[in-house]
Amino acid sequence: MNALLAQHRVESAERFAGEYPIVIEGLTNRFGKQVVHEDLSLKVRRGEILGVVGGSGSGKSVLMRSIIGLQRPAQGMVEVFGKSMTDADPDENIGVRSRWGVLFQGGALFSTLTVGENVEVPLKQFYPELSEELLHEIARYKVRLSGLPEDATSKYPSQLSGGMRKRAGLARALALDPELLFLDEPTAGLDPIGAAAFDRLTRELTDTLGLTVFLITHDLDTLYEICDRVAVLADKRVIAVGTIPELLATDHQWIQEYFNGPRGRAASQSKERVEAAREGGKAPASGNGPASGKAMDKPAESGD
Ligand SMILES: Nc1ncnc2c1ncn2[C@@H]1O[C@H](COP(=O)(O)OP(=O)(O)O)[C@@H](O)[C@H]1O
Ligand SMILES: [Mg+2]
Repeated sequence: MNALLAQHRVESAERFAGEYPIVIEGLTNRFGKQVVHEDLSLKVRRGEILGVVGGSGSGKSVLMRSIIGLQRPAQGMVEVFGKSMTDADPDENIGVRSRWGVLFQGGALFSTLTVGENVEVPLKQFYPELSEELLHEIARYKVRLSGLPEDATSKYPSQLSGGMRKRAGLARALALDPELLFLDEPTAGLDPIGAAAFDRLTRELTDTLGLTVFLITHDLDTLYEICDRVAVLADKRVIAVGTIPELLATDHQWIQEYFNGPRGRAASQSKERVEAAREGGKAPASGNGPASGKAMDKPAESGD
């Protein structure tokens, strides 16, 4: 599997035009009278996994939809790879749209299509000239890249565990060899082992494929284990963005309650335990540690 990844390795310097693949300035989103975002600004750095947190209903998914042009904002500017997503006609941005992959909240695979056929959907959309044979081959490859066994390609979503369905969704998000990956609560509903395995896979793929990842999550372990920086959505804006220690140094109440509440402390301590064990040359006891490189060897973890 590592050979497969190595084969897929790219010169990230060549693939990216600027330092910030996503730039958002002064974004306002409304639904009727409800104001979801007001004067929100955020820059996502090339090559990072940016965790995005915020209370339920704080507008994380709407923010993601604004970035990919599915939600037209009332005001503000969104640029992806230097192209405006707010001014242009969606069709004008077709070249940009093929440079990202999205795993929507809930996964949203087509239930009447096999996993392989699901992966083929974006390929057919953007590359209608591809032969059937090549389509199948690329789909099988993406399925394996996502840590699924090859025979999962011909299965229907209903025949897979929750964790395998997430990986199938990831395979579809990777169909077009994206530079930018959007993951909306990818580990929600997975057990801790399935979630940790998915996290390791995300980190490994990010590093190997040179991705930039916009990762919405509630999962404190995910934030501690794989995110380079975390953006906090509250009061309709991004109130802070930085590493977890940087966020902890702010005195915003929501941030303090979130990271210093019982669950935040448990996640932080678990990370310290894993690091202490690693420094001592021992294997982490929890199996919950950051990228061990083993995720790819165990393709079919059940997530539920
Ligand atoms: N298409 C829509 N029409 C009306 N209201 C919406 C729509 N999408 C989201 N909202 C509202 O916007 C707010 C933010 O939603 P969302 O971004 O999904 O929150 P979350 O942070 O949990 O992902 C919620 O109050 C939600 O009800
Ligand atoms: Mg959401």
